[in-house]
Parts: sequence; structure tokens; C-alpha cells
Amino acid sequence: MPVQPTTGHSVIFRGATADGRLVNQTFERNSKPVIDGLVSFLGDQTGHALEIGSGTGQHICAFAAAFPRLQWTPSEPDAIHRRSIDAWRAQLHSTARPAIGLDASADWAGQTGITEITPLNLILSMNVIHIAPFAVALGIISGAAKTLITGGYLVFYGPFAENGQHTGEGNRLFDERLRAENPEWGVRDVDELLVYARNDGLELYQVLKMPANNRLVVFQRTE
Ligand SMILES: C[S@@+](CC[C@H](N)C(=O)[O-])C[C@H]1O[C@@H](n2cnc3c(N)ncnc32)[C@H](O)[C@@H]1O
Repeated sequence: MPVQPTTGHSVIFRGATADGRLVNQTFERNSKPVIDGLVSFLGDQTGHALEIGSGTGQHICAFAAAFPRLQWTPSEPDAIHRRSIDAWRAQLHSTARPAIGLDASADWAGQTGITEITPLNLILSMNVIHIAPFAVALGIISGAAKTLITGGYLVFYGPFAENGQHTGEGNRLFDERLRAENPEWGVRDVDELLVYARNDGLELYQVLKMPANNRLVVFQRTE
């Protein structure tokens, strides 16, 4: 599926090597805490996992190594990022599948590349929904409702507000900066997401605290 770059986010990553690998400077800091958080509820689950907005591809290669019983599929709307993901897969001999083009604000559940891996046991999206219009968060939630097995998980990682309040001054300032850069961006509120999630048959499963005042927000499909 031809997907045009929508964001130009490759400017936020360092790189690239001759084969196209980009480097996310926060990968090392975030990877282990996120994996530990996922272990706490995924255990040794089998099935298919989809990452939305995989960026450089470093995270999904680490997830594929940490959870070998899950088959991991990365996705990205940005062709430069897809090239990076596939270059990291090759470099690390990762079992993650090839990156697919996916714009989460579209109705992606029935698109090529997704139908081959549904139903999904897990959808994960890290550091995406605050640097994208709210339609992206809504598209991830509604797509999750269509593609997850009952009992499957939708996991967001990043900065979040809770109950209308920022969780710290750093996140409040970050939110201000995001909205100044693009009024459609901004730190999302777990409780606002929950309203939409419940409407689509998902329930809040848990919220785990992560380094740098980030959160791992886990929804579960209950219907
Ligand atoms: C800040 S980066 C995070 C990348 C990676 N998940 C990480 O944590 O390192 C945000 C990513 O979201 C992707 N993105 C932006 N708009 C999107 C959309 N509509 N659908 C899916 N991904 C999107 C960008 O291309 C970019 O790779």
C-alpha cells in the first residue's frame, strides 16, 4: 500500500547509516522499562502484535527478541522510517516482520498487511498520539476494537495527563510546547481516551509509571 510521509518526523531521529538505520536517542532509556511493563501482563503470550508508529524500528526489534512467542509487525506512514525499521531488522537478524505502511488516522483495520495478521493479541503505540492530531488516537482505538481478540491489549506509551491534570510540571510545559508547535498536538488525557475506548468495547486495564514521568497505559478489549 503506498503511504506518503505525513509527518516528517525523521528529523527527530539521528542518522542515518548507509542502509537507512535511524537512531532514537531515548531508545536505551525506554526499552527495558517498557519491556518489564509488558512482561507484567503479557507473560509468554502467543499470537500477533502490531506496533503503530514504529519510528526507527529499534523498539520493535527489542520487543521481538524479548517476546519471541509473539509475531511482531511494525508499521509506519513515513517511508524513511519504514526503511530504517527494515534496516534494523536486517542488522539485528530480528524475527519482526517487514514494516507495513499504516496511517492510524485512516480506517486501517481492513487494509493489506493487517488482514493477514488479524486477529491481534496486542497493539502497541509509543510516543505517537501526543505528536499527532487526536484523530490518530481515535483511529488507533477504533482500529483496535476491530482487530483485537477479546481479551487483547492496546498499549500506549508516552506522557499522559490523568483526570484533566498534568502529572508534573515537566509534562505541562511539554504540552504547551507541543500545542505551540501544532495546535492539533498535545499530551493526551487517559480519562478522555477511556471515554472513547469504552464506547468501542475497551476497558482500562492498568496504568504503569515509567521513567521521565511517562506512562504505559493499557486498555483491554472486553467485548
Ligand atoms: C516521536 S515518533 C515515535 C517513534 C517510536 N514509536 C518511538 O517511540 O521511538 C512518532 C512516530 O509516529 C508516527 N506517526 C505520525 N503520524 C502517524 C499516523 N497518522 N499514523 C501512524 N503513525 C504516525 C511518525 O511517523 C513517527 O515515526
